Amino acid sequence: MLTLTIRDLQKNFGSLRALDRVSLEVQGNSIVGLIGPNGSGKTTLFNVVSGFYEKDGGEIYFKGERIDGLRPDQIVKKGLSRTFQVCKAPEKLTVLENMMLAAKSQIGEDPFSALFRRPRVSMLEKANLDRAMDLLEVLQLVDLRNEYAGDLSGGQKKLLSLGRAFMLDPDLILLDEPTAGVNLTLATQLLKVIRELQKKEGKTFFIIEHSMKVISDICDKVLVLNFGKIMAEGTPEEIRKDEQVLKAYLSGA
Ligand SMILES: Nc1ncnc2c1ncn2[C@@H]1O[C@H](COP(=O)(O)OP(=O)(O)O)[C@@H](O)[C@H]1O
Ligand SMILES: [Mg+2]
Repeated sequence: MLTLTIRDLQKNFGSLRALDRVSLEVQGNSIVGLIGPNGSGKTTLFNVVSGFYEKDGGEIYFKGERIDGLRPDQIVKKGLSRTFQVCKAPEKLTVLENMMLAAKSQIGEDPFSALFRRPRVSMLEKANLDRAMDLLEVLQLVDLRNEYAGDLSGGQKKLLSLGRAFMLDPDLILLDEPTAGVNLTLATQLLKVIRELQKKEGKTFFIIEHSMKVISDICDKVLVLNFGKIMAEGTPEEIRKDEQVLKAYLSGA
């Protein structure tokens, strides 16, 4: 099953072609990597797919349905979640509060339902709490649930942002450089969690990653972006051996 299909996607910043007719496919229940030199358009691609930037051309389909033109919150509700290169967890809330808030703001709970707490709302809250605790367990953040998000290490913040992205049970998760600035122990744990969630819950991951090792370890397929264009696509092994890719990567990195 195809989860994400992108056709001829274009995004310009003034005269800069940040995405130059990008076409790609992400199969369901797989882990796809996106690599490329700095400034090649990786984050821009995620920003357009998740509705944060408007495209200048092309089409985006998620589970067979056109999603370009939808707002970020509408896209999240359809089951497409993302994390940011720079974590955005509110620092003055605890880890658990962050998880609960992620679920709430994503379903767009209005202030009135908070005022007139009907049983349906509190049941939803109970379900959210259960899910939050389950996820924190997997992420090994349970013991830190009452700490402020701002007091976590860089790596723990990345784990928390993964947890937040998972609160609404998305089908596809876009991760922007999940292991950047994360120490080796936490990075290894993060990758383990990603693999576990893919296997156990049948999730699909589309991951921007700098490290070839990370890509090789977990990705089924790798796409290479260069100057806003897809320049190669293949298994990690094929990509590692691709002369053109090596050249672009070494000159850009
Ligand atoms: N909001 C923006 N306004 C103007 N230019 C941007 C903006 N976002 C990204 N760019 C430019 O688009 C290009 C691709 O950037 P980006 O997608 O962040 O690259 P990557 O994530 O691959 O490092 C870069 O040249 C960058 O300067
Ligand atoms: Mg980037």
